[in-house]
Amino acid sequence: MSQATRPLHLVPSILSANFGCLERDLAAAVAAGADRFQVDIMDGHFVPNISMGPMFVAATRAHTALPLEAHLMVSRPEQWVEAVAQAGADLVIVHAEASCHLHSLLRQIEAAGARPAVALNPASPLALIEEVLDQVALVLLMTVEPGFGGQRFIEAVCPKITRLRQRLDADHRDCDIEVDGGVDAATIAGARNAGANVFVAGSSVFAHPQGVAAGLVALRAALRP
Ligand code: DX5
Repeated sequence: MSQATRPLHLVPSILSANFGCLERDLAAAVAAGADRFQVDIMDGHFVPNISMGPMFVAATRAHTALPLEAHLMVSRPEQWVEAVAQAGADLVIVHAEASCHLHSLLRQIEAAGARPAVALNPASPLALIEEVLDQVALVLLMTVEPGFGGQRFIEAVCPKITRLRQRLDADHRDCDIEVDGGVDAATIAGARNAGANVFVAGSSVFAHPQGVAAGLVALRAALRP
């Protein structure tokens, strides 16, 4: 499947949701056409912030039937794979920078019953994931330094998105490219044009001044040709 025919997916990141009204925020995003949700798991070591853990994945799972992806921004991802998969994560995303045993880690995710995916920070080269492309159905290219919502989209990542899309298409791999960080109505089309087809958005959805539905509507509108 080439970039032109690959389905586009919007993935609200619940890091920016109102945790006191999580059920309400999730329902609003589902009603407005969210395709799945991302739960950001941070350990204060791989990234300079602490967020949610497997219990939060379970709490999200209890309130939605949509697929969930767990983005592990932690130094020892192998310690968390089973817990997040058991808590209900359908897709588990691990950072290539966090493991020197990436092949085994991706197999561990599969054995735990989830789909494996791999992520790269903005400055990390594609070479880090070259040897595991046959193990994943999604590559996440971070468009901010991971750790916090509300940062500016790093345009310099776009050529890397394009190079990866070309590489995947040349190899006839059925693999999605996800972008995460600073994705809003002004940046999403550039990411799509570069070759991404899955878009994680936190503050542009959950902190949209007109509400969650308006945030998703604006992103979809910006993706229209
Ligand atoms: C960043 C997280 C993102 C974050 C994106 O470390 O992985 O998912 O929530 O937030 P925005 O869309 O506000 O940049």
